[in-house]
Amino acid sequence: ISLKNYNTFGIDVTAKRFICIDSVYQLQELLKVEKDIFLISGGSNMLLTKDIEKLVVHIDIKGVSIDHENENEVFLTVNAGENWHEFVLWCVDNNYGGLENLSLIPGNVGTCPIQNIGAYGVEVKDTITKVEALHIEKGKLVQFSNEECKFGYRNSIFKNEVKGKYIITSVSFKLTKQNHNFNTSYGAIETELTSKNIAKPNLKNISDAVIAIRKSKLPDPKEIGNSGSFFKNPVITKAHFLTLQKTYPEIPSYIVSENQVKVPAGWLIEKAGFKGKRFGDFGVHKKQALVLVNYNNATGKDIYNLAETIQKEIKSKFDIKLEIEVNVI
Ligand code: EPU
Repeated sequence: ISLKNYNTFGIDVTAKRFICIDSVYQLQELLKVEKDIFLISGGSNMLLTKDIEKLVVHIDIKGVSIDHENENEVFLTVNAGENWHEFVLWCVDNNYGGLENLSLIPGNVGTCPIQNIGAYGVEVKDTITKVEALHIEKGKLVQFSNEECKFGYRNSIFKNEVKGKYIITSVSFKLTKQNHNFNTSYGAIETELTSKNIAKPNLKNISDAVIAIRKSKLPDPKEIGNSGSFFKNPVITKAHFLTLQKTYPEIPSYIVSENQVKVPAGWLIEKAGFKGKRFGDFGVHKKQALVLVNYNNATGKDIYNLAETIQKEIKSKFDIKLEIEVNVI
């Protein structure tokens, strides 16, 4: 079958064999006979550049349960196949706080820990209590505590030491029921709330603000294929930053540590002249240079070649190595 509808980039590659899994039991039974599989969940963080020879396993395990709660907090377990944004909206509706800044991120719950999704001052690691995963070789369920997940910026143990060894089946969260810790530190959220005259925001106000900001910058994958930020924001030395600042006084930055500075990749790509550039059926999004887009029938190779061209240009112009954030297959 075509995988075009199973990846948000909308890349039309073929799976020779495909199976949809809706329970952990089914998955365990499958692994008894077939271990060499290719996993696809929400397909929101991958670039497919070729047909998939392995059995493609679409994880579609649904369900949300409340494990326990007290006056202040609720502890939830959410199965991997639940859609991320729908889950966030459900939390906002129930007045469960902690995920509202992560509204409208594409993908499913099961993949949120892998790259530790983050936006507008919040990372999902701040609310995850544990991740349950099936060991592919042994067929056993294992639990990873928050600490064991080794979360970092767009990073976790699932991208490193145990990459390809586990299938995440559910994620557990701890959310607030009152005294929510609103994070409005991100400038655009503040601007959005002020424009609506909201002085004391609730969870819904923040979620709405984030949705409005994302819609204004990021293409809807249903309309234009994309995978969000294609690159990570690079971290450079302070010395390197000060040199760049001499040529580009307006260069934006966030301090990481005494000696390290993070620079928005979107700014570098825009400065290199790629923003809004279209090459046939693919290009760089016109409102956010960090997002590469498939206008219709681009191949994964088209997008990958464009990414390489951008990397070379950023290297020669700023002496910065841009690291690809999405999974290139
Ligand atoms: N900028 C430009 N031109 C652009 C884009 C950005 O000059 O075309 C500069 C501007 O100075 C802007 C700054 O970059 O103020 C930051 O841009 P933005 O707020 O859009 O955030 P970002 O750093 O480009 C990161 C995440 C996004 C997340 C936003 C908001 C990464 C790789 N990306 O982008 O995450 O939504 O911050 O928190 O860290 C994703 O990972 O898929 C993703 C969309």
